[in-house]
Amino acid sequence: MKKLLQMSFVLAALLGAFAAQAQDAKAGEKKISNCIGCHGIPGYQASFPEIHKVPMLAGQNAKYIVSALKSYAKGDRKHPTMHGQAATLSDQDMADIAAFYEQQAQVPAVPEVPAEAPAHVAELLKKGACVSCHGSNFSKPIDASYPKLAGQFPDYLTVALKAYKTEGNPLVGRSNAIMAGQVKQFSPAELKTLAAYIGSLPGELRTVPQSKFR
Ligand code: HEC
Ligand code: HEC
Repeated sequence: MKKLLQMSFVLAALLGAFAAQAQDAKAGEKKISNCIGCHGIPGYQASFPEIHKVPMLAGQNAKYIVSALKSYAKGDRKHPTMHGQAATLSDQDMADIAAFYEQQAQVPAVPEVPAEAPAHVAELLKKGACVSCHGSNFSKPIDASYPKLAGQFPDYLTVALKAYKTEGNPLVGRSNAIMAGQVKQFSPAELKTLAAYIGSLPGELRTVPQSKFR
């Protein structure tokens, strides 16, 4: 009997752990009041480290959103504003918020046809093997912890790509090893060309206008 009781305690603990990891989009909707001032205003501009549009989150992979938030919280992504935002979130908050944004994808999903790129862009894409991870339409990465990129704001993509290349700056930089290896082989002008092309593709990302007074 004692053994059985112990077992049921273990089971209950396990179930509790699973429940804690479950994503709850409805709960997430109530946790984004600090985010909508930037991510809920279509075309909203940020000015650091240069003027660019705040990235679209609606439709992004939930696993990637959580991974990005953890990187900001830990300082692997140094961006000061997002570090401050992410550091206040619990793992459960991150999971719920990510689930909320993921289910706002554009429908219908973009077709899986390989995107036709102009020759000078195709050369850069080939050199970086970008589609091998991000998918031929840049909307279907090989892993949900990788970002959807198609249609994302080109000025944001440029800032993001340059950040993977930035070293030794206390306020700017991303330490992701995979992307650091990628961007090394390109000049800033080439990164801008890549960002312009990827941002021009049809995608599932968008900014859903959100008001605090719903
Ligand atoms: C003051 C404006 C501002 C606020 C408030 C804000 N963000 Fe951000 N967010 C940004 C900017 C600017 C970036 C781009 C940062 C960079 O260059 O890495 C960003 C990036 C992100 C990213 C990474 C997107 C990607 O494609 O990698 C996520 C995820 C994110 N924010 C989620 C949130 C969440 C969740 C909240 C609320 C808890 C929030 N943000 C609040 C401005 C803001
Ligand atoms: C081996 C797999 C791999 C390859 C190849 C790759 N990427 Fe990535 N990419 C990733 C991963 C993983 C991330 C998320 C990194 C992070 O957490 O910051 C990422 C992130 C990005 C981001 C940041 C998106 C955002 O929302 O902040 C951009 C832009 C990007 N990649 C563009 C490219 C381009 C352009 C190429 C080709 C030159 C490329 N990637 C090649 C795996 C890859």
